[in-house]
Amino acid sequence: MTIEHPSFGTLDDSRVIIFDTTLRDGEQSPGFSMNLSEKIRMAEALTELGVDVLEAGFAIASPGDFESVKSIAESVGQRDDTPVIASLARAGQMDVLRAAEALKAAKRRRIHIVIATSDLHMRVKLRLTPDEVIQQTVDSITLARQHADDVEWSAEDATRSDPDFLCRVVEAAIRAGATTINLPDTVGYALPADMVRMFADVRNRVPGIERVVLSTHNHNDLGMGVANTLAAIEAGARQVETTINGIGERAGNASLEEIVMAIRTRQDAIPRRNNIKTTHLLRLSKLLATITGFDVQPNKAIVGRNAFAHEAGIHQDGVLKDAATYEIMTPESVGWKTNSLVLGKHSGRAAFRDKLNTLGYNVGDNQLNDAFRRFKDLADRKKVVFDDDVVALVDDEVMRDHERVRFVSLDLHAGSKSPPRAELELEVDGVVKSGVSSGDGPVDATFKAIQAIFPHTANLTLFSVGAVTEGTDAQARTTVRLEENGKMVDGQGADTDTIVASARAYIHALNKLLVKRERTEPQALAS
Ligand code: KIV
Ligand code: ZN
Repeated sequence: MTIEHPSFGTLDDSRVIIFDTTLRDGEQSPGFSMNLSEKIRMAEALTELGVDVLEAGFAIASPGDFESVKSIAESVGQRDDTPVIASLARAGQMDVLRAAEALKAAKRRRIHIVIATSDLHMRVKLRLTPDEVIQQTVDSITLARQHADDVEWSAEDATRSDPDFLCRVVEAAIRAGATTINLPDTVGYALPADMVRMFADVRNRVPGIERVVLSTHNHNDLGMGVANTLAAIEAGARQVETTINGIGERAGNASLEEIVMAIRTRQDAIPRRNNIKTTHLLRLSKLLATITGFDVQPNKAIVGRNAFAHEAGIHQDGVLKDAATYEIMTPESVGWKTNSLVLGKHSGRAAFRDKLNTLGYNVGDNQLNDAFRRFKDLADRKKVVFDDDVVALVDDEVMRDHERVRFVSLDLHAGSKSPPRAELELEVDGVVKSGVSSGDGPVDATFKAIQAIFPHTANLTLFSVGAVTEGTDAQARTTVRLEENGKMVDGQGADTDTIVASARAYIHALNKLLVKRERTEPQALAS
């Protein structure tokens, strides 16, 4: 059976639309917030990955959210290969108009309307009768259709909604002009069999259902996000809503990389096509981890460090004879490469730029110069420089674009004989300043030196250290979380010296805090 869709033309049964909500549902989870330039970087990388719909945010949620949706519509939304750019809106006039305004510049746009349909949500949260929910559904979709041909409507808490009411409201949404109907498992309560029943019910009972794309959106509270998504595809869903690394509210959303690779690996059971370039999956996962400061767990499917590592002798023996003995997909198919030795300390700028291009970076001249200088420094200190080192270094450099406070140098006296002492130089608004401090350990001394140079009231609420590659000369990747007046920011840093990496992470977080302050209280900018 085929469907005529305003954004995708003729869709046949074999196509599954990949709707990514990393920048909306994913970003909503605590600790995962991103600033504007980080969101644009993610949006560009998601576009290159090949997602069909990119939910850029919830335009009415805050001025920052509006700005993000608008900026993505004005940048990524202008590309020839742009995905459909979507903004979430509740079923009300103000929300819909705000979403429409933010999306205006996008060549391809979707307004995504949500309203709850379960008895519990309608009664307690919305305080609306079922008939009022139907009326708001119809009114908001009718308004949205005046601003976009592509309108998605979501029945929040669909899996706990009364099936008869769900069918009534879905029918009303289709009549009002919705082109995609999404039935979310908002609280992660459903089991795969429930999904099959719900989709079959709606498909069998709702007139006009054959004209729209049915969509599934699943949370992971019982660890069922991916399983429920695959069950929904089998039951007739043609769109899946996902996030990179499965980030999202509470236990997260169904993970894009797991769903895409399940479809690709099990074509015998799930004969569906999509446009995802699977070799980009690892890159997206790492980019998100670098931006948010949260690595995936080592055993995470597809993108975890151990996903293709074979430890047991019997497995290693099998894999050496034929990888297919224990590998159901190749590491290369999702972007893992043997950690190749890259460049030496005598490599020139052209070779470095070439390497960056093959790793998927297209950096400007200033960033190239700074990254190249740091690469030379790294090659002097580290015996072998791997691709992962270059990625960590460049991500670190790109994050630092336009920062007011910049790391210059650190001289540290530490050990068991005398109290640690940090002598630090920072560039603040273009002027180099120095500060000295002692502390309860070298990290504490360094953070106090930052405080001495740039006084602030933020509290440190998280500090973590990991390694970019193996070996004692590996670069450290550090994360620092700062909190000030209810605003929380994470910063990252990478360096072979753990304390320098820590200073860089702290300074990164501090700069993010300054941007947040600037948005809310411009007069508080002076340090
Ligand atoms: O989980 C949910 O119900 C949602 C909707 C906005 C689609 O995120
Ligand atoms: Zn959700």
